[in-house]
Amino acid sequence: MVKAIIAPSMLSSDFAHLASEAERMLNCGADWLHMDIMDGHFVPNLTLGAPIIESLRKHTKAYLDCHLMVTNPLDYVEPLGKAGASGFTFHIEASRDNWQELVQRIKSKGMKPGVSLKPGTPIEEVYPLLDGENAVELVLVMTVEPGFGGQKFMPEMMDKVRTLRKKYPSLDIEVDGGLGPSTIEAATSAGANCIVAGSSVFGAPDPAQVITLLRGSVEE
Ligand code: DX5
Ligand code: ZN
Repeated sequence: MVKAIIAPSMLSSDFAHLASEAERMLNCGADWLHMDIMDGHFVPNLTLGAPIIESLRKHTKAYLDCHLMVTNPLDYVEPLGKAGASGFTFHIEASRDNWQELVQRIKSKGMKPGVSLKPGTPIEEVYPLLDGENAVELVLVMTVEPGFGGQKFMPEMMDKVRTLRKKYPSLDIEVDGGLGPSTIEAATSAGANCIVAGSSVFGAPDPAQVITLLRGSVEE
C-alpha cells in the first residue's frame, strides 16, 4: 500500500562536509535526503538554498527531499528545479492564496509536490490540496515547531496522521521532528510512512542501525 521511506535530515550533518555526509547516510540505508530550506523569516533560522542543492546534486543521484520553510515558496520553484531538487514541499501557511499555481509550477519543473503544516494548523486545511488535477503527492505533518533540529516530538500530532491515513490509504505521509527509536512507533502506528530523522540518526554511534530500526517500524 505505502512504501517505507527513511529520510535523514541533513540539517544535523556537518555542512562543511555535505557531500560525504550525504554519501555516508546513503551507505547507511537512507532512501531520501531531507533538505531543510529556511529563509530566516518564515522560521527564525537560516539554512541553505538552491546553490547548495546544486552543489550537492553534482555529488549524488539521491532523491533530494526539499522542505521549504520560507515565506514566498513560489520564488524558489525555478531555482530549485534547475538546481536538481527532487521533491518540493511547501508550507500551507505560506501559500493559502496561491497553492494551485505553486503545485502546477512544481510539477512543470519535474519535482514532486508536497504540502506541510505546522503543529497549530488543522489537518482540514490541506484537504483541498489532495484532490483534483493540482493535487499534491505528499503531506508533511510537522511534529515540532519548524526551525530547528533536536526538539521534542509532539505525540498529539498523530491524530492528524491517523485522520489523513484513513482518508488516503496510499498517500505519502511524512513526519518531521523528534523522530527516533523512542517515538517511531507512535508515528508509524498512526500511519506515517516517510520518516525524517535528524539528531537521532546523526547523533547515533551506528546510524545504519537506527535507519534499519525506523524502517522496520513502518507498516507497509
Ligand atoms: C525542523 C526541520 C527538521 C529537523 C528535524 O524544522 O524541519 O527536518 O531537521 O530534526 P530532528 O530529527 O533532530 O528533530
Ligand atoms: Zn524538515
